[in-house]
Amino acid sequence: MTAQTQTATDLLATDTAHFLHPFTDFAQYKAAPGRTYVRGEGINIIDSEGRTLLDGMSGLWCTNLGYSQTSIIDAITAQLHALPFYNSFFNCSTDATIELAQKMTDILPAGFNHVFFTNSGSEANDTNIRLVHRYFDLLGKPEKKIFISRKNAYHGSTIAAASLGGMSGMHAQMSALPYVEHIEQPYDFDADSRLSDDELGHRAAQALAQKIDALDADRVAAFIAEPIQGAGGVIIPPENYWPQIAAICKERDILLISDEVICGFGRTGSMWGCETYGYRPDLITFAKAVTNGYQPLGGVGVSDKVATVLTTSGGEFAHGFTYSGHPVACAAGIATVELYQSSQIVDAVAKDRQIAWATAVQTLSDHPIVGELKSKGMLMGIELVKNKNTRERLAPESGGAVYCRNQAIAGGLMVRQVGDRIISAPPLIISDEEMATLVDRLRRALDLTAQHYGINES
Ligand SMILES: Cc1ncc(COP(=O)(O)O)c(C=O)c1O
Repeated sequence: MTAQTQTATDLLATDTAHFLHPFTDFAQYKAAPGRTYVRGEGINIIDSEGRTLLDGMSGLWCTNLGYSQTSIIDAITAQLHALPFYNSFFNCSTDATIELAQKMTDILPAGFNHVFFTNSGSEANDTNIRLVHRYFDLLGKPEKKIFISRKNAYHGSTIAAASLGGMSGMHAQMSALPYVEHIEQPYDFDADSRLSDDELGHRAAQALAQKIDALDADRVAAFIAEPIQGAGGVIIPPENYWPQIAAICKERDILLISDEVICGFGRTGSMWGCETYGYRPDLITFAKAVTNGYQPLGGVGVSDKVATVLTTSGGEFAHGFTYSGHPVACAAGIATVELYQSSQIVDAVAKDRQIAWATAVQTLSDHPIVGELKSKGMLMGIELVKNKNTRERLAPESGGAVYCRNQAIAGGLMVRQVGDRIISAPPLIISDEEMATLVDRLRRALDLTAQHYGINES
């Protein structure tokens, strides 16, 4: 029986019988299976029972242009007919791979003229470690090996990427790389006494300076961070944070890696998050929206500073994947970049869509269980509380946010829960009307959650 011929009930039974889902409590899932999605249309997803949900998460921060982009689908199909696979090892390449490499350098910030392709964001961050270690080895500074990252960061799920990440739950289940150190993130909602934005940004940036100085700058290779922490709960940094971080790295000869797997491709209101916050990284991680999620593809944008050393020193860079620069994924990437260029979607986000989004979601700020709501670009994070003044949480172990997320999904809206936060990152192409629907459905979920916990509704 193919997936198409299975009934919704059969599909769920087969799912729980055979499929181990990522980031899932397997025992819990066998007892209470989830939903299976079978179609996408515009910015909606349709499940196996025919229910339509507005996708407030762009898949998994991937489908920035929605589910119905036929030019990407056509490009994938045409590439499959022309050359479904060839590799990029041993001085080989494919025309699609070369074209996407060039197109990426068109849209990367100035001074980025090289890319290394991978299949995912995780592999791209593994690649960053390899590139950075190679760079300093070639410069005759082999002792520069340490990476600094942030608590609650997400950089992927391979051992190396998860070591860079600061997710305590992941670290508890693995043995992390010994040369990764973590510092605080710019976040203090749960602190007894909160700092001003400037104080928080300064304190969090100084944590990097202190860590580098404690470890000795001669041993530290790079700092990696997301412009806005996405999977950590859409943690939007104070405006003074990034300029200070960039200055600290520069003064101490530390490479700066901007992990733009979520923030790239217009998510923050510029093509890249580093452009939104006005800093110049040395390496840029990309994935997800590079193919609008239609094919697995990731990579690293390499600045001229790093590329010059790597490409003039000789000696093989002993790293790569069978599918690095896969022609079908690259064809999807080319069509996606072309859509970004022809639709000028990033300009639209910068000029007006991000304002429409901020205005629409801010109407939820007054809700009795919304402790704080922040948005930037086409991202939003809400802190759920029982009491706005004391910031007491609705329920232990993030139960309030889990309940709210479940109500949203039942009411036709896909959003995500992270700790006590509800987050959303809709496709950039969301219309005004769809934004209003998203906000209505989220308000309804908040009302039901407030009711459940005996708090007055809005
Ligand atoms: C910032 C960031 N980096 C890296 C990754 C890992 O990407 P992938 O899941 O494609 O390996 C993610 C995934 O969500 C991410 O958000």
